[in-house]
Amino acid sequence: MTYRVGYFVGSLSKVSINRKLAKALVRLSPADLELVEIPTGELPLYNHDFDANYPAEGTALKTALAGVDALLFVTPEYNRSIPGVLKNAIDWASRPWGTNSLTGKPAAVIGASIGGIGASIGQQHLKQILQFTDSPLMGQPEGYITFTEGLITDDGEVTNEGTAEFLTFYMKSFLEHIEKNLPKQAA
Ligand code: FNR
Repeated sequence: MTYRVGYFVGSLSKVSINRKLAKALVRLSPADLELVEIPTGELPLYNHDFDANYPAEGTALKTALAGVDALLFVTPEYNRSIPGVLKNAIDWASRPWGTNSLTGKPAAVIGASIGGIGASIGQQHLKQILQFTDSPLMGQPEGYITFTEGLITDDGEVTNEGTAEFLTFYMKSFLEHIEKNLPKQAA
């Protein structure tokens, strides 16, 4: 059985270390996971006036999310929380009220920082949000990556063996989490 995983990158930077991490995770995923990016950069800033008539960018996000089984968040920490671009995308995905596109989708959170605690505090905020959206969260392993120069190439090749092993284990664990938590389809 193959599962489609929609992944968010919480950074719009052209030299994002989290985009490198996302590319590494795509490379190291088990064959049973198909990873597709959920783009966030074109979304306007959300407000609920849009609910009556979602613009094309909002509808595209909801359609993309309807097409995936699970969610992977690869994000930096900004000021000990998540970047605004990611929160904005989550707000779009969660509305209009009663049509939360994140609900029920098994989710995992990982991130890289140049700091020593690997974006862990931002990830805690994100986990709190995903608890509210009712997206079953992978508890273990946690993914706190301290990024040193050259750790992952622009193409997503991991240059440190221990990190490559950990990221492979992380994605294998996510596959198991999806298998356990994906709502069963009605026969
Ligand atoms: C940061 N950075 C940062 N790092 C961290 O570990 N904790 C933090 O709270 C913050 N806060 C923060 C705020 C803002 C506005 C910026 C621009 C940066 C540093 C951050 O880890 C570093 O810039 C990463 O390279 C950001 O990830 P991307 O964009 O390269 O994926």
